[in-house]
Amino acid sequence: MIARRRRTIAFAAAHQPKVIALSYALSFTATDPAAMWAEAADAAAALVAGEPDAIANMANVAALIWQAVPDLNWAGFYRFDGTELVLGPFQGRAACIRIPLDKGVCGAAARLRTTQRVEDVHAFPGHIACDAASRSELVVPIVAQGRLIGVLDLDSPSPARFTADDQAGAEALIARIAAALAG
Ligand code: SME
Repeated sequence: MIARRRRTIAFAAAHQPKVIALSYALSFTATDPAAMWAEAADAAAALVAGEPDAIANMANVAALIWQAVPDLNWAGFYRFDGTELVLGPFQGRAACIRIPLDKGVCGAAARLRTTQRVEDVHAFPGHIACDAASRSELVVPIVAQGRLIGVLDLDSPSPARFTADDQAGAEALIARIAAALAG
């Protein structure tokens, strides 16, 4: 069990071309998973609103999830380039760069366009161990207007970390902002 990271942070963003500096104070207070994911989805929707750059939006959403969701060792995105998954914005240790759709938990989520919630990654055939600390994993496919955009990948050092509530919450968050991740 890793230490629960501090869940309040203040940061500033400058929006071009008007060069208006906006300050946000993101604070996540919910403790039950459903409320926590609802808070995170509200914050994610606010962060991506009006921003067309998919990479910038993925970067902010990865950071937001890293802050809001406890007990993770990796949180981020892989983008579908038309052939395979390519590493996108993330928080955590350096990771595998390219994942074919027939490999790993991420490949399965992308290929099947179905969330993969894996209680024990060591029992998942073909699991790719980017970080040896990972014990369980939640991968949500991102589809916008019928097009596969990539996946959101969450890893935890705790076995069976992700519940059905976590899955529903992460899926709802992604559904809400999928267009802003499509770029
Ligand atoms: N474990 C993933 C690979 C990505 S890393 O966890 C960041 C998989 O099996 O697809």
